[in-house]
Amino acid sequence: MDKTRILVTGGCGFIGSNFIRYMLSKYPYIIINFDKLTYAGNLENLKDVESDSRYTFVRGDIASKADLASVFEQGIDVIINFAAESHVDRSILDPDTFIRTNINGTFNLLEEARKREVKRFIQISTDEVYGSLGKEGKFTESTPLSPNSPYSASKTAADMLAMAYHKTYGTPVLITRCSNNYGPYQFPEKLIPLIITNALEDKELPVYGDGMNVRDWIHVIDHAVAIDAVLHKGVLGNVYNIGGENERTNIEIVKLILSILGKPESLIKYVTDRPGHDRRYAIDSSRIKRELTYSVTTDFRKGMEDTVKWYLDNRGWWERIKSGAYLEYYDLMYKNR
Ligand code: NAD
Ligand code: DAU
Repeated sequence: MDKTRILVTGGCGFIGSNFIRYMLSKYPYIIINFDKLTYAGNLENLKDVESDSRYTFVRGDIASKADLASVFEQGIDVIINFAAESHVDRSILDPDTFIRTNINGTFNLLEEARKREVKRFIQISTDEVYGSLGKEGKFTESTPLSPNSPYSASKTAADMLAMAYHKTYGTPVLITRCSNNYGPYQFPEKLIPLIITNALEDKELPVYGDGMNVRDWIHVIDHAVAIDAVLHKGVLGNVYNIGGENERTNIEIVKLILSILGKPESLIKYVTDRPGHDRRYAIDSSRIKRELTYSVTTDFRKGMEDTVKWYLDNRGWWERIKSGAYLEYYDLMYKNR
């Protein structure tokens, strides 16, 4: 059996938990999930794999060198860094933790990788590092980095550190930059789960600005498959864009959810725009498709129907989240918009 030890940071969040489940179902690897359990981290997300002997959970903070040292002493072959503060609106309200986790935390991981014999370091980045597009064009891997929010600036800094470690120390870095994910276990602060769960509660559906901002939506499992391809076939030092080839305006997404749920459009409320709101993201993923024979397989309509069904079937999961500290955040975020 292959005893490769993979450190997945941030594995209790949305994408990390889906990725871990996918990897355990496909490979014999040992997975160490290292997560601080912030508001976004939830042990429930991986309850079904807890008893798998190849899976271990370690509570820890990537911004703490001491927490990291103890996990690295056990031996790590591969690092996949999902851990991050991930929500743009929160970064506008309070950027501090974004700098600490996304920049200092990535730096600490790179230092561990430099000191030890790590074979691969995959930095899970985002298309937001490229900034915003007008009506035409797509982000390629050589599009200049031009982030607009504290969140995307912190992710950009992390990418640059990672690339500098590769060039200076030969750290075996690969970077992925994916577009907007959707699917099960996404925290209900993000557009799709927020709209689904608010609609299920017959609450207002806040749409920022004119609702015409465009995102390129990809199912979280298509993202996991892409990371799998980068892990096994990616060339060290390369960046790989990952996109869904699926551009949609926000209002189109909201109306699609309402039609799947059979809820009225009168729930929609246009609210004050997000400051510095990026207008359009679109990804050119031709490199990963061509060089790593990757392709997206989830049909968007089907993926959205399955996602809505997941939130219907897992009401307890999101009701517990929405009845806790989330309420204060929601008030702060939406009261005066
Ligand atoms: P998420 O907010 O759902 O989960 C983040 C996880 O990281 C949580 O489990 C949290 O507890 C953990 N974490 C936060 N700070 C930590 C720290 N200091 N130490 C250890 N763990 C910590 O985020 P997500 O949507 O799953 O995103 C995961 C990664 O993918 C992020 O790096 C994000 O930038 C990137 N990304 C997200 C998307 C998207 O659409 N959600 C798209 C492209 C890239
Ligand atoms: O593109 C990848 C990025 O996608 C990731 O790097 C981020 O971690 C992830 O959060 C996501 O960022 P966005 O800001 O694009 O996602 P969010 O779901 O917050 O918003 C999607 C769009 O919907 C955006 O144009 C803002 C809008 N929006 C969002 C919320 C929460 C609304 O109109 N109303 C809302 O209530």
